[in-house]
Amino acid sequence: MNAEQSQAFAARHAGEDAEALAVIADESGELIGHMVFHPWFGAGTHEIGWAFSREHQGRGYATEAARSLLAYAFETLGCHRVIATCQPENIASWRVMEKLGMRREAHFRKCILRDTGEWWDEYFYAILDQEYAAQSFRGKGSQYAAASKAGLTSPRQGPS
Ligand SMILES: CC(C)(COP(=O)(O)OP(=O)(O)OC[C@H]1O[C@@H](n2cnc3c(N)ncnc32)[C@H](O)[C@@H]1OP(=O)(O)O)[C@@H](O)C(=O)NCCC(=O)NCCS
Repeated sequence: MNAEQSQAFAARHAGEDAEALAVIADESGELIGHMVFHPWFGAGTHEIGWAFSREHQGRGYATEAARSLLAYAFETLGCHRVIATCQPENIASWRVMEKLGMRREAHFRKCILRDTGEWWDEYFYAILDQEYAAQSFRGKGSQYAAASKAGLTSPRQGPS
């Protein structure tokens, strides 16, 4: 993106209805990428996505930011499912999905028509609330994991 496109992008995602979140490096305060996160058309479902500047790729930032958003999706919003898509050639992107514990649910063939007239394939990944909870349970025993162990798929459904 050039400066003009960056400003337009920032303006478009500055309000309450923003679908993209800036990722800022803790140490430098530098903008290093953005995460996409918004409701998908399926009930209780959000879509997640990511893009980082070239010089900040390959350092685990996308995975770290996505883990935080998955925690927000399942533990705060009470989502049922989070989905993500990418092209099969985008190995870094689907590696992030797999590191998050998302499952590949589909490989759509020639489903996206580009301006060039070329048809692109797409991978479709998802993770369910109970799959996320099972991962958390292997971790440090969060409140969410406890709710999951008690047979509740979302902390929102548990006793207050
Ligand atoms: C996709 C993207 C967000 C990943 O961000 P990132 O911060 O580099 O991701 P992470 O470092 O958390 O993880 C990347 C993983 O992919 C792996 N990877 C990257 N390129 C790879 C390749 N060509 N072959 C195999 N593995 C590859 C890395 O080794 C790492 O896995 P590991 O931790 O098991 O080693 C980043 O590459 C990017 O911004 N790309 C351009 C925009 C884009 O394509 N966005 C997604 C659109 S669907």
